[in-house]
Amino acid sequence: FNDRINVAIDGPAGAGKSTVARLVAQKLSYIYVDTGAMYRAITWWMLRENITPEDQSQVNRKVQDLVMELIPGEDLQKVLINGEDVTPHIRSLEVSGQVSQYSGIEGVRSRLSHLQRQMALRKGVVMDGRDIGTTVLPDAEVKIFMTASVEERALRRFNELRGKEQVTLQQLEQDIARRDRLDEGREISPLRRAEDAILLDTTFMDIQQVVEAIVSHCRSHVDGERNHL
Ligand code: CDP
Ligand code: CDP
Repeated sequence: FNDRINVAIDGPAGAGKSTVARLVAQKLSYIYVDTGAMYRAITWWMLRENITPEDQSQVNRKVQDLVMELIPGEDLQKVLINGEDVTPHIRSLEVSGQVSQYSGIEGVRSRLSHLQRQMALRKGVVMDGRDIGTTVLPDAEVKIFMTASVEERALRRFNELRGKEQVTLQQLEQDIARRDRLDEGREISPLRRAEDAILLDTTFMDIQQVVEAIVSHCRSHVDGERNHL
């Protein structure tokens, strides 16, 4: 793949974005950027500092002061804040329950969007999140909006957490539905399908099928551009 493009993958919680985005990036030898991990890292940091999402001016001040680094890895991408690896903490239910409140705050969004755009400047990036195709990388060459039924998404999360966290399927379904509502309903760059994004309903698709579908979209985009020259 010589002609490097950017790939934006958005969609609701548990749709399979991060799993699929990582595999697509591997196949294309691209860099994978998990923007949800960045919002989660900020959330964990604020919770530890006892700064509530209601205290927006304090959140905005803190988020400007900290230094965030992303280190791509084989499996998980690492997130460092002020040099501290916060990755082990960011997938907890506590963080999942609060992240949508912090991610609606203006200063948080502008700071993280800026970092995300910088990472994509040289192209060859697969980035997943909620507002990548609409706001962060509106010029991404390939945009995917990935969904699945809420029942299926909760079940996927449940299977993933089984044995690790004490949680019921019903709790997960509620958490996911609530987070979707907050993410879709916020004022600044809400979760929304970009007009030019391809809608991919993965309810009845396995991971490999989804990966193949996206890689083939990328290939036909690049081939199409070549034939234009
Ligand atoms: O993995 P999961 O789908 O549960 O969530 P995530 O992708 O890790 O994102 C966690 C939260 O971060 C989302 O529910 C959003 O509130 C926020 N987020 C966002 O606002 N914008 C993004 N580009 C990515 C995540
Ligand atoms: O990033 P997002 O929240 O959209 O989802 P994820 O964390 O990538 O996927 C949630 C879970 O669903 C993972 O355990 C995946 O292995 C699984 N999954 C699946 O079973 N079938 C798919 N087509 C996609 C993901």
